[in-house]
Amino acid sequence: MCGIFGYIGTEKAAPFLLEGLRTLEYRGYDSAGIFVHGHGVIKAAGPISSLEAKLPKDIQGTAGIAHTRWATHGAPSEKNAHPHHDMSGRIWLVHNGIIENYRELKEGLAVQGITFYSETDTEVLVKLIGSFYKGDLLEATRLALRAVRGTYGLAVVSEHEPNKIIVARMGSPIVLGLGKEGNFIASDPSALLVHTKRVVYLDDGEIASVSKDSFEVTTIRGEKKTKKSEIVEWEHEAVQKNGFAHFMLKEMFEAPEVVLNTLRGRLNVEEGTAKLGGLEMVEERIKHIQRLHIIGCGSAYYAGEVGRYMLEEYAHIPVEVELGSEYRYKKTYPDKKAAALFVSQSGETADTRASVEKAKSMQMLTLGMVNVVGSAIAREVDAGIYNHAGPEVAVASTKAYISQLTAFALMALYLGRQRGMSKAEGLDIVKALQSLPETMRAVLKKNDEIAKVAKKYAQYRDFMYIGRTFHSPIAYEGALKLKEVSYIHAEAYAGGELKHGPIAMLDKDFPVLAIVPQNDVYEKMISNIEEVRARLAPVVALATEGDLQISAVADDVIYMPKVHPLLQPIVAVLPLQLFAYHVGVAKGLNVDRPRNLAKSVTVE
Ligand code: G6P
Repeated sequence: MCGIFGYIGTEKAAPFLLEGLRTLEYRGYDSAGIFVHGHGVIKAAGPISSLEAKLPKDIQGTAGIAHTRWATHGAPSEKNAHPHHDMSGRIWLVHNGIIENYRELKEGLAVQGITFYSETDTEVLVKLIGSFYKGDLLEATRLALRAVRGTYGLAVVSEHEPNKIIVARMGSPIVLGLGKEGNFIASDPSALLVHTKRVVYLDDGEIASVSKDSFEVTTIRGEKKTKKSEIVEWEHEAVQKNGFAHFMLKEMFEAPEVVLNTLRGRLNVEEGTAKLGGLEMVEERIKHIQRLHIIGCGSAYYAGEVGRYMLEEYAHIPVEVELGSEYRYKKTYPDKKAAALFVSQSGETADTRASVEKAKSMQMLTLGMVNVVGSAIAREVDAGIYNHAGPEVAVASTKAYISQLTAFALMALYLGRQRGMSKAEGLDIVKALQSLPETMRAVLKKNDEIAKVAKKYAQYRDFMYIGRTFHSPIAYEGALKLKEVSYIHAEAYAGGELKHGPIAMLDKDFPVLAIVPQNDVYEKMISNIEEVRARLAPVVALATEGDLQISAVADDVIYMPKVHPLLQPIVAVLPLQLFAYHVGVAKGLNVDRPRNLAKSVTVE
């Protein structure tokens, strides 16, 4: 949610800033802007390409800051684009987050005669910094931040002090990249990979003064902090399209590799169990956990819903799944016998993070399932599992979701074996997991077939997804993908619920996508499909290879391989992701950057 990039060093800054913004564009693409010392500011409404078109070729300065915006306060116009400046026009700020008390601060500043040119909370913040400025930008920023309530990742520069960039973090990520040609700052380490893998993550409440060959971190109260640099494992290649038409397509095609990476080193083939190193230090506590809460937002929430079926069925542990945006405000009770598991690709989602605090205050063991190593949630929980899915760039989550389901299958195996699952059953699951990458490869071979079906349905206005048990959350996730990348109105229901209301909407213009693997609720799903057909709704079925009955009741069938029931939802979701993608492409939409969305939601 808004991307920040900065550079201070010996090379020309503008090309680095532009490239950084391009990598971060998934965080927001309403407007963009850069400031380079010695040159000034350039802003443009719309995507980074609009900014690029406005940039002169010969920008000489070697330090600057840049921003790509997802609008919170004020329309996505050039006027509201960052960087924003103070009253003197010499201090420039880029900001990701929300200043909650900006109205109050604005009134206070107005009394001092300070005027405003935009509707943004960010302008208020930079004017506040300007009002404290007496030649020391670090000190002025500290004073301003002490008066602020809200969230921020920010970078600020003063034309009076061209040899430094001040950055600060509260709730929204900021990472420093230590490179040969100077130092970098970014909202996300993926934007640093082309320059350096050596990074320093800022923690909440920290502020850093960054120069071309050094950096110094303190708190906003002025206490010194010693920070260690870390090496990011991701490769620069992972944030390139590598010949694919879109990041989304590339990321779905990475599914076999992603599954492999999530499983790597985690299967114990002798004992028929999983080895989850990140949970070892809390192993004894986990053994005695009687309830598990799973918390996430968006796709991560739906991954949690699948996780619930997996853990209840195979590990016999009662699970509740909650949205981060609800859990944090909901009445909960102190519970030492409960653990809370936070699922988040980015590890930065504001509502999920706030829920970590809540679970901690209820004395629960806190666990994370996070993709971005070193992210806030990863650092705040007691223990956890990393997904190792690699950077995900497309706004709609695909490979991270697949990795989350795979990690849940590992957890079901690990906890199941602790709680009475036989070794023979464990060995069966291990075997099934070992062949999962190959199975995902087989699903990808159907890509052209799925594209054909998608084309046929791309012109509908509405869609209904149905599934039962393990596949009911898959129906929700499939519908979410379609909404995100094709803007088609898509609803999802557990198959059995259809007749309790939603069936009223169905007619020949309202197709139904039924997830109908050959499992213990197969017959029930067939009955649901019959009910749908009786209302003339076209039916697309996602069914098991070799199912001879299904083509008699469905207009179109996408076949998927049959696997162990624990893993079936992992195999089922990939065709649904591909289907949504191809519908979006058939409609000529920008599937990587759907309108109104941002990948990393750091506002509440
Ligand atoms: C945004 C993204 C979704 C994602 C959700 C949660 O809405 O567009 O794809 O599922 O945030 O993000 P997280 O990083 O916590 O998994």
